[in-house]
Amino acid sequence: MIALTLRPLLRGIASSLIALKLRQTLPGGPAAGLVVAHLSDLHLCAGTTMEGGLPADEVVRAARAALDWCFEQRPDLVVLSGDITDAGREEEWQLLHGLLAGLPPARADRLLIVPGNHDLTITLEAYSETDGRLVLAHEARCRSFTRHVLGRVPRDAAFHGERSGSLREMLERCEDYALAYDRLPPRLGTQREQWRGLGAQLRQMMRRGDRARSRRPRDLTEYVPPVMVPDALTTEAARDRGTPWPTADRPLYLDLLALIYPMTLYESPSHVVIGLNSNTIPAVSIVDGAIGMLGRGQLDRLEALLRSRSGKCAILVVHHHLGCPPEILARLQVSPLELKVLQLADTARLRRVLAGHASVVVLHGHKHVGYWADLDRIHVISAPSVAYGNRAGTDNCHVYAIGADGQVSLVASTRVSTRPDTG
Ligand SMILES: [Fe+2]
Ligand SMILES: [Fe+2]
Repeated sequence: MIALTLRPLLRGIASSLIALKLRQTLPGGPAAGLVVAHLSDLHLCAGTTMEGGLPADEVVRAARAALDWCFEQRPDLVVLSGDITDAGREEEWQLLHGLLAGLPPARADRLLIVPGNHDLTITLEAYSETDGRLVLAHEARCRSFTRHVLGRVPRDAAFHGERSGSLREMLERCEDYALAYDRLPPRLGTQREQWRGLGAQLRQMMRRGDRARSRRPRDLTEYVPPVMVPDALTTEAARDRGTPWPTADRPLYLDLLALIYPMTLYESPSHVVIGLNSNTIPAVSIVDGAIGMLGRGQLDRLEALLRSRSGKCAILVVHHHLGCPPEILARLQVSPLELKVLQLADTARLRRVLAGHASVVVLHGHKHVGYWADLDRIHVISAPSVAYGNRAGTDNCHVYAIGADGQVSLVASTRVSTRPDTG
């Protein structure tokens, strides 16, 4: 049980901080290739941000300025690499709606979003690992992310795996399930239900032959009997919709998010933009809530997806950093331990998966610092924060042109600030 949440933390401590090779400059000039505006870490909040206490109106003002500037550059795509909200709350997602209201469909379809730890996993509560509220809080954020982000992905955005298809079409076929879910959400079980659930699990474990057939536990809900899914909702989930989700054994929105990444967010004859979810572990505190992990299933599906797109430039969008250039680390005034613990816990495996693909660019956020770097043949672009700025530079909004061969050039950049008087 403990291993599930502590494993990434222990892996981070045991591994070393991956040293990226810093690129001091990028070639500039006119856009050639796919033009991508990259923003990250908006941290939209209702009161003040949990780290640094930025007021909501300043954060929203900076986000509006950044989005307006990006769209004025007329990019092919605007990419937001996570931490859109500060705590994944409904009212924070409503702020994003306000920012996007009135956006013409042609522009809205160009906006691609992946989740950050502040959207899905971070918590200010001190839950124990066996506390069902831990799972329910993560589940509530997955529900909000689905409602506010996944429900508006471009129609051709697709998930891949044993089965693949349009995410929007799958969600539309599950609209009646969403209504049933919101009427009958998962809840904490009573003491009696907890004991009954534990007993059922023990009986199943001891039954001969079951072990061979049983699949591996997939998340905390299978360890924590206190989380109960109402029978009526399980029955509704079991209805055959011809979709991989929801099913009787995968009725939750955290199950949906575990299934749909990697997601192809945009595709052309020369490029494929792939969204990843690095926020797969529900956190027990603010510390481990910052840890990122893709997980074996997502990486296996990514490997197969890349194999099927071997001739294209793959642009991966993920929230967590893959490592850090030593020169940037020296300027950041944070400990190497902090950076290595918080780097993507399965970077080494991702690196192996990407090694087989000729042309890869990774866009990420998370550490609120901007730089360009290389890891093997992978071009890594770290975005600063729209809300907090750039910890190792000035500009926090960038537009890049990415060629079919993966070469990146800088088209434009600017700085927006949470302070109205500083630009
Ligand atoms: Fe952030
Ligand atoms: Fe983050």
